[in-house]
Amino acid sequence: MTSSDLEAVSASAYREAMAQLASAVHLVTTDGPGGRAGLTATSVCSVSDGPPTLLVCLNRNSSAYPVFLRNGVLCISTLTAAHEGIAADFAGRVPRDKRFEGRVWDTLRTGAPVLPEALVAFDCRIVDRHEVGTHDVLICEVEALAEIRDANGLLYAGRRYRLLPGRNASAG
Ligand SMILES: Cc1cc2nc3c(=O)[nH]c(=O)nc-3n(C[C@H](O)[C@H](O)[C@H](O)COP(=O)(O)O)c2cc1C
Repeated sequence: MTSSDLEAVSASAYREAMAQLASAVHLVTTDGPGGRAGLTATSVCSVSDGPPTLLVCLNRNSSAYPVFLRNGVLCISTLTAAHEGIAADFAGRVPRDKRFEGRVWDTLRTGAPVLPEALVAFDCRIVDRHEVGTHDVLICEVEALAEIRDANGLLYAGRRYRLLPGRNASAG
């Protein structure tokens, strides 16, 4: 059998396969001349520690996407097991202009909102961008970090949220 005998992988088969992977869940937020915006994302990955750089993949069709480009900065707040509700809010349950209401937000260096109770947060400047299919890969230099908290982490796997026990498993 040659590779040309194999059928192309469909988008739905690819999504089903990817659903088997467990990923940390984050809020990706921004603020600046374009205003405030944020969404829930799992496609966050380390690129390098010299300089500290990560990538995040954003759907260009999301309502928040143009705001990220305009502001050129973003913050990634990694969620704890206590944050399933806010993950759903920022994934579309709450309209974009209301997602930040009713909570206190911090900032670090760039001015992007930081969730104060996050497991950890990476405050970043967007330094490069690559269009790939429906998404943009944003290359982000990390300018500041929030303090690391000891809490249970939030994972998304098999299309549902799961708990990742922290060092002190009783922490919320
Ligand atoms: C668990 C989970 C992970 C997600 N990961 C991403 C992601 O990595 N990148 C992305 O652009 N959207 C991701 N989304 C979708 C966005 O959170 C959101 O639903 C989409 O941007 C629509 O929001 P809007 O109302 O801002 O347009 C994810 C959603 C969920 C529930």
